[in-house]
Amino acid sequence: MKETLEKIKAAAESALNAAADESEIENLRVKYLGKKGELTAVLKQMGSLSPEERPAMGQLVNEAKQKLETLIADKKSRLKSKATELKLKAETIDITMPAKEIKTGGLHPLNHVVNDMIDIFQSMGFDVVDGPEVETDYYNFECLNVPADHPARDMQDTFYLAENLLLRTQTSAAQIRTMENRKPPIRVICPGRVFRADEVDATHSPVFHQLEGLVVDKGITMCDLKGVLEQFAHEIYGSDTKVRFRPSFFPFTEPSVEVDVSCSECGGKGCRVCKGAGWIEILGAGMVHPNVLRCCGIDPDVYSGFAFGIGIDRITTTRYKISDIRLLFENDKRFLEQF
Ligand code: PHE
Repeated sequence: MKETLEKIKAAAESALNAAADESEIENLRVKYLGKKGELTAVLKQMGSLSPEERPAMGQLVNEAKQKLETLIADKKSRLKSKATELKLKAETIDITMPAKEIKTGGLHPLNHVVNDMIDIFQSMGFDVVDGPEVETDYYNFECLNVPADHPARDMQDTFYLAENLLLRTQTSAAQIRTMENRKPPIRVICPGRVFRADEVDATHSPVFHQLEGLVVDKGITMCDLKGVLEQFAHEIYGSDTKVRFRPSFFPFTEPSVEVDVSCSECGGKGCRVCKGAGWIEILGAGMVHPNVLRCCGIDPDVYSGFAFGIGIDRITTTRYKISDIRLLFENDKRFLEQF
């Protein structure tokens, strides 16, 4: 009996050592310690022993049982920690791997510039107003002192959508809408997209952007216009920038001027950016024509005003030294990511 016990113990031990998973261990437990197990069978044979032999043998069987139980528990816990170890290994995050790039968008250079322009004029007390891109002939030309058949219409090659409907050629249309809706004092800017049937080249695009300004009040003079535009130029290009008024013609202003700023690239000496002139034209302006005020129900004997229209694209290309206006509209990410 003792021998049988030793054999069972040895076989169980080696089987347990070889067991590779929990179900194998469980099978072994049942095989040796279960109700019909081999060790249990030995215990059942105890009855056939003499009373003198029984205690010693009983102790041996119990020891063997305990031994097997601890072996099983050990093996189980070893398997468990091995499994945990493997799981952890499989789930390790390789922190040296490059992370997935999070792509964020950015403002278009034109929007950077418009936002800055709005900030500058708002700090001088201007309100921002909006106007439709599809305009009537009346707002875009007629009430701006450009009647039908007036030769000044040739200055702005127009996309007509219908007899009296067109894509606005200038933000000046917003002046009229504002003066119809507000009483002086008026101080507004209107930034927006405008359209002209121009051929595309490095400096022309059929879609471009203007920022219109309008001030109407009692006693407004050209000095006010110059002061506002100088302040604007200093903030955009730097405080040593010079501003120059050249006489010009617009049907809706009298007198009218083209406004140049000293070239920020060469400081006025002449370079590639200003094409040797030392000056860059950035806007048209003038004192609001009495006919325009009258058309909007404002008495030109009581009120006067000035207006200006700034080319936003030109401000953008000079500010960022962009050599071709087409780059602003091609949506090439390699270009746009630089701003
Ligand atoms: N609307 C003019 C243009 O597009 C610019 C301008 C605006 C001139 C306001 C005078 C006053 O050329």
